[in-house]
Amino acid sequence: MATVVKFISLTLCLYIFPLSLVCAFSPTDHYLVNCGSGAAETVDPDHRVFTGDESEFLISTRTNRLVEADFQLYSSSPLYQTARGFTRPAHYVFPISDRGTPHLVRLHFHPRFTNSCCNCFEVEFHVVANGFLLLYNFRVPRGDGPPIIKEFVIPVDFGKLEITFIPSESSEFGFVNAIEVLSAPKDLIADVAQYVDSGKVEWIHGLSRNGFETVHRVNVGGPKVTPFNDSLWRTWVTDDKYLQGRDGSEKVHFGGRIQYQMGGASREVGPDNVYNTARIIKSSDDSTPKSNITLTFEVEKGCRYMVRMHFCDIASVSSGMIYFDVYVNGNLAYENLDLSDVTNRLLASPFYADFVVDEGALGNLVVSVGPSNMSLPHAVDGLVNGIEVWRMNNSMGSFGEEVSAEYVRASWRRGHTGVLLPLAAAVFLLLTASVFMVRKKNGHVGWSRLPVDVSETNSKFDNQFSSVKA
Ligand SMILES: *[C@@H]1O[C@H](CO)[C@@H](O)[C@H](O)[C@H]1NC(C)=O
Ligand SMILES: *[C@@H]1O[C@H](CO)[C@@H](O)[C@H](O)[C@H]1NC(C)=O
Ligand SMILES: *[C@@H]1O[C@H](CO)[C@@H](O)[C@H](O)[C@H]1NC(C)=O
Ligand SMILES: *[C@@H]1O[C@H](CO)[C@@H](O)[C@H](O)[C@H]1NC(C)=O
Repeated sequence: MATVVKFISLTLCLYIFPLSLVCAFSPTDHYLVNCGSGAAETVDPDHRVFTGDESEFLISTRTNRLVEADFQLYSSSPLYQTARGFTRPAHYVFPISDRGTPHLVRLHFHPRFTNSCCNCFEVEFHVVANGFLLLYNFRVPRGDGPPIIKEFVIPVDFGKLEITFIPSESSEFGFVNAIEVLSAPKDLIADVAQYVDSGKVEWIHGLSRNGFETVHRVNVGGPKVTPFNDSLWRTWVTDDKYLQGRDGSEKVHFGGRIQYQMGGASREVGPDNVYNTARIIKSSDDSTPKSNITLTFEVEKGCRYMVRMHFCDIASVSSGMIYFDVYVNGNLAYENLDLSDVTNRLLASPFYADFVVDEGALGNLVVSVGPSNMSLPHAVDGLVNGIEVWRMNNSMGSFGEEVSAEYVRASWRRGHTGVLLPLAAAVFLLLTASVFMVRKKNGHVGWSRLPVDVSETNSKFDNQFSSVKA
């Protein structure tokens, strides 16, 4: 029955509503959680329905509900009105039915609780998910900035995804405003990509086993795309701060229909709003231009990155006229990209290419597109519609840190049994002494009850936030 319904809706999608959003992607696993909220439902400005975390997902007790004191003053989304605060590891568990598929995880942070709480900027914590260390010693940057949204794509092989928030030793407090978990479309992460180095370009395999952290997502030549207009509720920013100087490129906009094809980029890989704008270099005379479109992305040194470049020829007058070279960090990554060839000679049909690079000592990643020796005069000689930059996990399963998830979990336990061990020893001594005394008095062996009550260290945080105990 379900298959029939699926088939019918797919048929409707293909033949009846090709242009509408009726057939938007619906993830198999789809959890939207408004942390610290007691309400059953909260609708965010993009019309997405988030549930509270009181009755489901959160399996730790002894966490705090944080409520923003003067919410209206700061933010536009009700998601940031509440948060979950914790002084010890807090676990969220999500049942997963779409196993073996990468899942998107988004964590929202916006510390705007009370005016007296400037300490939210001091708190520091770690986040671990199914063996990956997502965030280590994470602090929310100071200032009145917008909410911080950290996005990851991680493989999930088992029936559950467990996300654990662990306060760091120095701060002993952490918080989270909202969590999104959704299964990614099958084609979001391809298993192969081209590894680009100064010496070589070669295929690397097995990428779907990796975790990815989104670092930059740019709608080149176009406006900002908000989650409302994206098939996977992503945000794509404008290219202004990435573009290098005046490079002779121009922006183009296309009003027609984007021709998604089987085997090419799907609407989930990049939405219409990304593919219908671009930046191009074109030749208007008998020679090809002597310039590149160059974008520079700030990244951390010593990490591995995946760069996804989105192309959709919305500017040529006919197919078979667009050829260009693609460079990553000055190295030729794709020579004579023949966009007509990879899109079955269809204009306005999207295509993407993934490149993996190891970032050395530069601290930035430079991506260029420019004329190749096959480029034609009086034609478009370079084009790019969108660029995404993801940081990949290292061999420790973390993103740029030389520690693993297991190390972080264990060090919290170590730090806290440090207090308990002497206590346990004292209790043992007392017990032994009392047993000895009881035996002496009564002449037989017996246990006397001792009040053993190790109280929580929660209380010292209660006045920092206008908190409500959950
Ligand atoms: C969605 O995109 C359309 C144009 O494609 C734009 O007019 C509209 O403002 C966008 N909506 C949001 C919420 O960004
Ligand atoms: C474009 O950039 C590449 C890599 O930095 C460089 O080798 C090439 O000469 C540039 N092309 C033009 C036309 O400036
Ligand atoms: C383009 O240049 C490469 C060397 O960089 C050369 O191997 C190739 O034959 C050239 N193609 C054309 C069409 O001239
Ligand atoms: C990233 O993590 C996966 C899964 O644990 C592992 O197979 C892979 O080797 C890691 N990547 C690197 C570069 O070590």
